[in-house]
Amino acid sequence: MGEKRASLGGRLSAVLVAAGSAVGLGNIWRFPYVAGENGGGAFLAIYIGCILLLGIPVLLAEFTVGRHTHKNAVGAYRSLAKRWSFLGYNSAISSLLILGFYFVVSGWTLEYFTSSVSGAIAEYTSSTINAERFAAFTTDPMRPVIYTIIFALLTHVIIALGVQKGIERSSKMLMPVLFIMLIILAVRAVTMPNGLEGLRFLFTPDFSKVSAKTFLDAMGQAFFSLSIGLGCMITYSSYFSDKTNLQNTAYNVVALDTLVAILAGMVIFPVVFSVGIEPTSGPSLVFVTLPSIFNTMAFGPLWSTIFFLLLVFAALTSTISLHEVLTAYLHEEWHMSRKVAAWIVTIVTTLLACASSLSLGVWSDFKICGLNIFDSLDFVTANILLPLGGFFTSIFAGWVLDREILRDEISDHGRLKGRLFGLLVVLLRYVCPILLLSIFLYNMGLFRL
Ligand code: PHE
Repeated sequence: MGEKRASLGGRLSAVLVAAGSAVGLGNIWRFPYVAGENGGGAFLAIYIGCILLLGIPVLLAEFTVGRHTHKNAVGAYRSLAKRWSFLGYNSAISSLLILGFYFVVSGWTLEYFTSSVSGAIAEYTSSTINAERFAAFTTDPMRPVIYTIIFALLTHVIIALGVQKGIERSSKMLMPVLFIMLIILAVRAVTMPNGLEGLRFLFTPDFSKVSAKTFLDAMGQAFFSLSIGLGCMITYSSYFSDKTNLQNTAYNVVALDTLVAILAGMVIFPVVFSVGIEPTSGPSLVFVTLPSIFNTMAFGPLWSTIFFLLLVFAALTSTISLHEVLTAYLHEEWHMSRKVAAWIVTIVTTLLACASSLSLGVWSDFKICGLNIFDSLDFVTANILLPLGGFFTSIFAGWVLDREILRDEISDHGRLKGRLFGLLVVLLRYVCPILLLSIFLYNMGLFRL
């Protein structure tokens, strides 16, 4: 390539940007609500199984494709095997559709942040009031749309500052703080009356609650949370340096991401059981639950200001990674300047996000297969497109990609002795495709366990 591409610094930076993409609303907003809908403990067990058997191999496959080619997802597949470019397009489409609802939820976090700063959050005194306020806000035709637009513009500004400066710096500072904050909140939540009930819900598997949908939801949540199956990690790893140790990066990202999700569950479920909210309340769960915990704390609005600010940043490091997939694609494949590419992405995704925000209120009668725009974007991406992307990624890495390329990247150009390499190949060739396919077929009712 004639033009010099941006690249990321040392090992820490690679872990941090990748974890910045992975850790986000998927961990704190989506994980608790999906786990709650699927009965808690059994879901967690299946989810961890999905992370280990599907998540790690697919993440390593994406890292390999990205770092080997140093290209955006479409360009990467095109240069390795032209017929597989469709995987790159799947990546662009999935990123677009995810941003279509992710910007909306990110906007909600921004609203909760401003309500915390203004002190209005102190009026959220009971779970009924919290639920009413949340419903009134999210169905309003104006306010959530404005927050959605502000959030999209924030993302745009960071993308426009450039890959290295913008992404690296913002990821670096905030992860450790988020972590500590979650631990403090988890301690507070568990000590609330009846709080232990919540831990029991999260950690005691009740397999009688497991259905075909539980497997699909767990698999979808694993892909969504790790930002895999849509070439996001391909795009990011295309900026990794040749010194980056891909295996360590992957293990660190997976560990951090899973830990944050479990910690979020340890905050949310004790509160859910303590104040009497239904664990099955869906996407509103976190927003209705969290104010209740701040209300029990001295300086509640201050705590909630810090927390929602961190959540805004966690969401932002994820939206920039999604935005970057599309911007890098337009910039490199369509030869647009980064600036024009970034504007096009911002405008198109914002329009979609506004429509999906309105679909919770004034446009709620408009349904696609029984779901409003917001819910259908969430379902189609997490439960269909990402696992499908993961299915083809594992087939590509296991059967099509030159074995030496895989070995070379995974072993860090021979510097790491690859004891686990054989296992990875077996997972990519057989375990991932078969498992992914079975979960799909099982869900379509084609066979029963
Ligand atoms: N993994 C992010 C989260 O958990 C969401 C995301 C999905 C980001 C796919 C990028 C790509 O919030």
